[in-house]
Amino acid sequence: MLLPLLEFQTVSYTYPGASHPAIQNLSLAIFAEQKIVILGHNGCGKSTLLLLADGLYRCSSGVISWKEEPLRYHAPILNQWRQRIGLAFQDPEQQLVAATVAEDISYGLCNSSLSRAEVAQRLHQTLHDFSLQDLADRPLHHLSLGQKRRVALAGVMALQPELLLLDEPTAYLDRLQTHHLLAELDRIHASGTTIVMATHDLDLAYAWADWVIVLHEGQLVLSEPAQQVFAQVDVLNQLQLGMPTLLECWNALPATWRDRHSPPKTISELRSYWLNHLPR
Ligand SMILES: Nc1ncnc2c1ncn2[C@@H]1O[C@H](COP(=O)(O)OP(=O)(O)O)[C@@H](O)[C@H]1O
Ligand SMILES: [Mg+2]
Repeated sequence: MLLPLLEFQTVSYTYPGASHPAIQNLSLAIFAEQKIVILGHNGCGKSTLLLLADGLYRCSSGVISWKEEPLRYHAPILNQWRQRIGLAFQDPEQQLVAATVAEDISYGLCNSSLSRAEVAQRLHQTLHDFSLQDLADRPLHHLSLGQKRRVALAGVMALQPELLLLDEPTAYLDRLQTHHLLAELDRIHASGTTIVMATHDLDLAYAWADWVIVLHEGQLVLSEPAQQVFAQVDVLNQLQLGMPTLLECWNALPATWRDRHSPPKTISELRSYWLNHLPR
């Protein structure tokens, strides 16, 4: 049987002083090699879940495990945990700590158990992988938000985590920057990293994910293959999440035309369906 990489078993978390738990009795499993989206309205607990998964918050009850090994909250174990699981915060300013791009990427590497030669090699490779060579010596405060995001992601990936957690990675990016980021994520995924992305962007989730976890008010509603989740129109409407634009266009076609066809994942799939099936 396939083992989950990361597992939550009846995990709850309440912020100090809060009257309600932000995460409540949540159980879920993350399997290797998937592109997973955590979907839900603002305030439903997505960021809290990622912070728990990275061991930055300690759950109030329940167990979080990596390959069936429960997380223990001791410094050396947490260090090792965070080398396997990398978290890119929603706000890159929270992540970036050094003066220049190269120094920032080196920072995490120097805090791991790598030799100086390995740190230099990883830095060189990471600058290359993220096309940051020309920005290596640039002060971080001279970068655009999109560039800061890229540097923050590069810093996380330099540690070669098995699981990458991304909190709203496309927030504040324009279309072109989003396109570049998704291409970067495809490259990271193709090189063997499992990715979990928290977002409230339904269109992004539909276009990118192969597995979708739906949260509502700190509780798990669905954890299923993406196609299955987006077929549950009633559940999505009940949660007021709505439908991805592409699916709404698809569902607006007469049912007899859609018969025996699975919904398109991209605009070009929809276009080629139209070209083949619309009466001329
Ligand atoms: N630092 C905090 N202190 C107290 N409550 C918080 C804090 N951060 C988030 N919350 C609350 O926890 C709940 C979940 O928040 P969050 O995980 O940020 O949701 P999301 O990322 O889905 O928008 C919300 O009700 C939010 O108000
Ligand atoms: Mg959030």
